[in-house]
Amino acid sequence: MRLLNTSCGEIRGRLHKSGVMHVLFLFLAIVLSCHGCPDRCVCSLQTVKCQNQDLDAIPHSIPANTKFLFVTGNNISNISVASFPTRLDQLTDLYLGGNGMEYVEEMVFDNLPNLLRLDLSNNRIQSFSERAFPDDNKLQLLNLSRSFHNHTYIDVVLNFLRSGSLLQLTALDLSSNDLVLLPDIFGSLSSLVSLSLQNSSIITIQNGTLKVPPLRDLDLRDNSLRDLPTTTLAELSLKPGLHIRLAGNPWRCDCFIDDMLMWLKNSTQVVDVQNLTCADPEALKQHQLLQVELSQLKCSSEMEGVLETSYVFLGLVLALIGVIFLLVLYLNRKGIKRWMYNIRDACRDHMEGYHYRYEINSDPRLANLSINSDV
Ligand SMILES: *[C@@H]1O[C@H](CO)[C@@H](O)[C@H](O)[C@H]1NC(C)=O
Ligand SMILES: *[C@@H]1O[C@H](CO)[C@@H](O)[C@H](O)[C@H]1NC(C)=O
Ligand SMILES: *[C@@H]1O[C@H](CO)[C@@H](O)[C@H](O)[C@H]1NC(C)=O
Ligand SMILES: *[C@@H]1O[C@H](CO)[C@@H](O)[C@H](O)[C@H]1NC(C)=O
Ligand SMILES: *[C@@H]1O[C@H](CO)[C@@H](O)[C@H](O)[C@H]1NC(C)=O
Ligand SMILES: *[C@@H]1O[C@H](CO)[C@@H](O)[C@H](O)[C@H]1NC(C)=O
Ligand SMILES: *[C@@H]1O[C@H](CO)[C@@H](O)[C@H](O)[C@H]1NC(C)=O
Ligand SMILES: *[C@@H]1O[C@H](CO)[C@@H](O)[C@H](O)[C@H]1NC(C)=O
Repeated sequence: MRLLNTSCGEIRGRLHKSGVMHVLFLFLAIVLSCHGCPDRCVCSLQTVKCQNQDLDAIPHSIPANTKFLFVTGNNISNISVASFPTRLDQLTDLYLGGNGMEYVEEMVFDNLPNLLRLDLSNNRIQSFSERAFPDDNKLQLLNLSRSFHNHTYIDVVLNFLRSGSLLQLTALDLSSNDLVLLPDIFGSLSSLVSLSLQNSSIITIQNGTLKVPPLRDLDLRDNSLRDLPTTTLAELSLKPGLHIRLAGNPWRCDCFIDDMLMWLKNSTQVVDVQNLTCADPEALKQHQLLQVELSQLKCSSEMEGVLETSYVFLGLVLALIGVIFLLVLYLNRKGIKRWMYNIRDACRDHMEGYHYRYEINSDPRLANLSINSDV
């Protein structure tokens, strides 16, 4: 192993000091080491591992018969057509995770005609060429778990999935990418069987997602789904072969979820149906969704809650006004008493005035006078 790790230069340097036998032996070693294993890599059988070596590029002179290549945990910001300068016909599995990779340029995989599984997880990709893969690629599994720099780049980055070159792709891992809304990328992935969108902040399943014909496994665990709309349930029911995982979402157990609950109780499509729990309302928090009865699904949470609080508020305001009114009355009790006496006196004067006038009017002596005066 030590010999294999020694660089070609060092071995060539030692050649001068050796005898003929040694020359032969070392010649063999040069052939082995230079065609055997790149610097800072470990090779065994058809596997080459160059892990956590702070490499800034894919090592060149990878043995031509390599099947499994691991270049992980290094510092490779850019892969391009120069990354694989020689053809590696037997390479099927390529692991490039944890490299802080930002750019995947065009034609980078052109020299890997039999690549089946590619792992680009745990990178910071912000640009992915639509022409990264050759048209006749055979890629079956693509791992893009936690691959993207951030939310802003997702639309741009996922464009290469729409390009229509990944016709053999059966498994796609897009987990832990903070997608929120999934761009419609599945139209051209015509062989996709398994899709992971776990832990991606997804808030709704968009219409197109379920249209991929062969899709059989959909992982939506640990997202931000609150319920599944009726249209989605209908789409799911049309694909009885599709199995879906939904645990770890904050289901809202109110009257809007009743369609979904009925569907869940009757469907075999949700693999982890036992693990679905309510996130709210408070009364049903952490309850297993399957154990919730339809009669427990109330819509008091928002509308009625708002109404209730506004009624309480109105009542309080009215009571306050009443109290203030009484208080004003109480404080002014003397003034009010005086005012009432005044009114009473005024009334009495008035009444007396009437009384007087009535008496005058009814006096027969004065009646003549008034008739005469009119003339
Ligand atoms: C990775 O490489 C860049 C230059 O390409 C350098 O600035 C950075 O310090 C390196 N990071 C590590 C952890 O070596
Ligand atoms: C990536 O590397 C290639 C070759 O080394 C270079 O031509 C290209 O400009 C680089 N791209 C970026 C974005 O750094
Ligand atoms: C993708 O990579 C992540 C992390 O490296 C790993 O946990 C996950 O199992 C991989 N997915 C697939 C489908 O292999
Ligand atoms: C994404 O990264 C870019 C560049 O680092 C930064 O300018 C931008 O604010 C980030 N966006 C989000 C949503 O974090
Ligand atoms: C979920 O995704 C975030 C990034 O979006 C990541 O930091 C976190 O580790 C992931 N959690 C799990 C359990 O994979
Ligand atoms: C989803 O599809 C259904 C019928 O196929 C349609 O009624 C609905 O408006 C669509 N929703 C969106 C958001 O496109
Ligand atoms: C429940 O499923 C059975 C068959 O799987 C079906 O006959 C029945 O109509 C379904 N009931 C409801 C309420 O969807
Ligand atoms: C449900 O959750 C438990 C505990 O987290 C786990 O062990 C089990 O595998 C889950 N069941 C399914 C069907 O995913």
